[in-house]
Amino acid sequence: MARKIILDCDPGHDDAVAILLAAGNPGIELLGITTIGGNQTLEKVTYNARQVCTVAGLTDVPMYAGCTRPLVRPVEVAEDIHGDTGMEIHGYELPEPTVELAEGHAVDFIIDTVMNSEPGTVTLVPTGPLTNIALAARKEPRIVERVAEVVLMGGGYHVGNWSAVAEFNIKVDPEAAHIVFNEPWPLTMVGLDLTHQALATDEVEAEIKALGTDVADFVVGLFDAFRKNYQDAQGFEHPPVHDPCAVAYLIDPSVVSVVKVPLDVEIDGRLTTGMTVADFRAPAPEDCTTQAAVDLDHEKFWGLVVDAIKAVSK
Ligand code: BDR
Ligand code: CA
Repeated sequence: MARKIILDCDPGHDDAVAILLAAGNPGIELLGITTIGGNQTLEKVTYNARQVCTVAGLTDVPMYAGCTRPLVRPVEVAEDIHGDTGMEIHGYELPEPTVELAEGHAVDFIIDTVMNSEPGTVTLVPTGPLTNIALAARKEPRIVERVAEVVLMGGGYHVGNWSAVAEFNIKVDPEAAHIVFNEPWPLTMVGLDLTHQALATDEVEAEIKALGTDVADFVVGLFDAFRKNYQDAQGFEHPPVHDPCAVAYLIDPSVVSVVKVPLDVEIDGRLTTGMTVADFRAPAPEDCTTQAAVDLDHEKFWGLVVDAIKAVSK
């Protein structure tokens, strides 16, 4: 049975790949895409999500725009990584989007979808700041026990990228992350420890290019810009393609190994705001609802991505 998911994202190069993986794998039923201001403004990332769906011909996936800004803090975007548009691309002409946005707010779509589905059947996959998810949990607390699980890209237990110890999605809205990490739903943190293993190497890019389709050209164009920005901004040789790792875990848990561990989010540190704190001192207690992703099977992961690009190219 396919896993029903709502992808809450801020495209974003790697969010775009997460959309393609979710749409192109038969193990996932993509109930909807919701957008959140993050890598760029809400307006820009929503436009980008519509472009991704237009390129991939995803005309029947409802899309809703969500929050424009974090709960408490000012807007902070990742322009040095994702560019002025939020989805800078090299050597590929992006189309005007023809896929339209649905009417209504992302938070209400999340609540309505969860409340109108059988309990335990809808999984939330946030790959941007957690503002929409936190507000949904506050507006309709009954979703917490009805959601199957939350599998998010964000955080990390030994590493940061937006500060020495904090990852971007958590750092820009730590209060929202605090809410989401502290609700008692099963939560998997697919953080930087894991996603820094998901590098788009030259071999990976060559394999995608060899598909020879328009969607493949789109992904290659994304990776070329992403690589350059990651080299300039953070000294990576190849870009880490974070967000599809969360989707891959749901498709095939053997791609992403996890460990049960208590997790929390720092919201008032002097140097550590937005840090995800993992308590590895002892085996996790029985009632621990959180886990962290640890190891990626690189070959299987990219195999899934390549297959999905092939599938949506048809
Ligand atoms: C995360 O931040 C964003 O820039 C990426 O899209 C990813 O979700 C990585 O820290
Ligand atoms: Ca993202």
